[in-house]
Amino acid sequence: MDIIEKKSGKTADGAVSERENPTLFADPVLRGLGKPLIEWYQKNKRELPWRNRPDAYRVWVSEIMLQQTRVEAVKPYYERFLQVLPDVRALAEAKEDTLLKLWEGLGYYNRVRNMQKAARQIMMDFDGEFPGTYEEILSLKGIGSYTAGAISAFAFGIPKPAVDGNVLRVVSRILASREDIMKQSVRRKVERWLEQVIPQGQAGDFDQGLIELGAVVCVPNGRPKCGECPAAFLCRAHAEGKETDFPVKTKKKKRRTEERTVFVFRDGVNIAIRKRPLTGLLAGMYELPSVTGRLTQDEAVAYSKKIGLIPVRIRPLGEAVHIFSHVEWHMRGYLVQVDELEKSCTEEMLFVRPKDIREKYPIPSAFEKYKEAIYKSL
Ligand code: ADE
Repeated sequence: MDIIEKKSGKTADGAVSERENPTLFADPVLRGLGKPLIEWYQKNKRELPWRNRPDAYRVWVSEIMLQQTRVEAVKPYYERFLQVLPDVRALAEAKEDTLLKLWEGLGYYNRVRNMQKAARQIMMDFDGEFPGTYEEILSLKGIGSYTAGAISAFAFGIPKPAVDGNVLRVVSRILASREDIMKQSVRRKVERWLEQVIPQGQAGDFDQGLIELGAVVCVPNGRPKCGECPAAFLCRAHAEGKETDFPVKTKKKKRRTEERTVFVFRDGVNIAIRKRPLTGLLAGMYELPSVTGRLTQDEAVAYSKKIGLIPVRIRPLGEAVHIFSHVEWHMRGYLVQVDELEKSCTEEMLFVRPKDIREKYPIPSAFEKYKEAIYKSL
């Protein structure tokens, strides 16, 4: 069954009836979801650090991090972030490099920059107090309907849904909907429908329950664990035995591939790094120097000389692939021991001690394979 949208369901007197526009109203199947879902969640939920004391700031930090990576990977980042920046004011006042260092390895660095902009908005427009309505939360930089719904429901008990890809998968299976979950219109409809079926006073557990169900039972890869699902009894995909036919999702455009050669240039003391441009991919991050193309060892030596360096020794560091949302870097690395970086290099770079890279200069995880060579001796 599809989640069909009709243009208008108004009757002659301006009122809207279910018969006139059934899509304005939640599919009746969803009305049976709340109670069993919440009971299941309360019994089976995982203990996660952001589920204790869910104040708005903590929910916000965790949800933005959880958009980037898995629950287990988020835990240490979350603890460290809250230790260094325990509240909105601390985030608003943090230095950019501190922020980026706390985010190092999570990717999508603009998300944490936007968090800082939002924290500054809260300081200016809301007297430093996290706003407590859905619309105000949604007005903050970098906060969309998912995050605004999560903060509203978990921290303030406001009956708003938090619909991400996992929740869309769960709902699309329950409804056996063939509509494309990549479409904004489908997401908005699911949000509207779920909002109508949130049990009173239980928005937090309802939203978390759906997220939890998507994460541990109604899983994206492989067969869902329908034997453990509190919604199996009403799930249309399950009734048809077609769970894995859903959700329907248009494929994203293919990523472009870029070949690069990455250098760890070092003299006896320092490593060469540089700052990326302030716009575009990994904007404003520090990085290991690199050039386009995959150079042979001889070409790498020639390049080192071209930029004024005097290579003494070179060692291949192997190949690595890093996948961004729109591009893949296929890399090859070299460790190049040189004589006196600072005196000879003609390129604009920073020459810093390995210890400073660890503590001060956030280098994205795209360079992970080559970062090891910064800290090891030749
Ligand atoms: N994924 C996204 N939000 C989550 C949450 N609050 N708990 C667990 N996993 C999540």
